[in-house]
Amino acid sequence: MCPGQLDHELWRGMEKQKHIIETQQFDLPRIERLFEQTRRVQRSLETGNRHEFGYSLKGRSMISLFYEPSTRTRISFERAAQLCGMNVCGTENAGEFSSAAKGETLEDSIRTLTGYYPDVIVLRHKETGAAQRAADTIDRYQLPVHVINGGDGTGQHPTQALLDLYTIWESRKERIENVHVVMGGDLAHGRTVHSLAYVLAKYSTVHFTFVAPTELQMKKEITDYLTRHGIRYTLETDPKTVLRDADVVYWTRLQKERLDPKLREDIERHGMYQIGQSEVDMMKPDALILHPLPRVGEISTEIDDDPRAQYFKQAQNGLYVRMALLLELLG
Ligand code: CP
Repeated sequence: MCPGQLDHELWRGMEKQKHIIETQQFDLPRIERLFEQTRRVQRSLETGNRHEFGYSLKGRSMISLFYEPSTRTRISFERAAQLCGMNVCGTENAGEFSSAAKGETLEDSIRTLTGYYPDVIVLRHKETGAAQRAADTIDRYQLPVHVINGGDGTGQHPTQALLDLYTIWESRKERIENVHVVMGGDLAHGRTVHSLAYVLAKYSTVHFTFVAPTELQMKKEITDYLTRHGIRYTLETDPKTVLRDADVVYWTRLQKERLDPKLREDIERHGMYQIGQSEVDMMKPDALILHPLPRVGEISTEIDDDPRAQYFKQAQNGLYVRMALLLELLG
């Protein structure tokens, strides 16, 4: 690259620091700072102190605008905001109960909501790129409002990836080195695996195995990104061949709302992408089993008490990470 020439990916990240749209925008120092803060928040709450951050963001406001269903992202964000002293309002079903149902565009909704003085809008939307469109609307009018992408179609879910990464970081004594991450399930449509692959690619010694039916393999734009950044990966179809060597098994559901029903039936009938006791028995004794949840049968409840199964802890970490992120953006 010539002196003075901009690294496009780096520049894109710097342009977007006001908003949280995709995980490529985070660099390692920022992640470390965020995780230090997350750890402080976690320790405070785990030791029974729910009030330590209760005045940190007093008077600040968050709107949660969810056009798709959510249990974890919406409620953990709302609890995170409340625990930091923020006011919260919004809708859990914007597709039905906002004026989107009457045909209002996302841009008009966002421009209207920014007039109500929020500091943050957390947006979940069925269309890939929706969070960027919301951010562009805000920036066009130079409004002091942060957009946080709470999941956009088959695009990204950056705060999920941050909590996934925090769970890995915490379980590996705060170092992410030589980690073999096996991601399985519906990698084509699962936005959490996209965001997590991008952010894990910041760690040069991480390597991936993507295990999925051919039709649901990891998107080419992501494998191309890994290649450009010198990150090793392999593509597989049979989980049994790869679970043995995994340090982290990151499993995902088939996204029935985005899948051809015939393909879904074929995959489910085969039962190949289900993790039960026999699959866990193959894994390393210190492997970490993660899932963004919700699960719909691809992880058997029979393994829930295995210490390697950390998906509920992972979901709880979402509260701590989101508090730390709000403190970073607004504190
Ligand atoms: N992992 C996740 O995004 O869960 P929700 O859909 O419940 O928010």
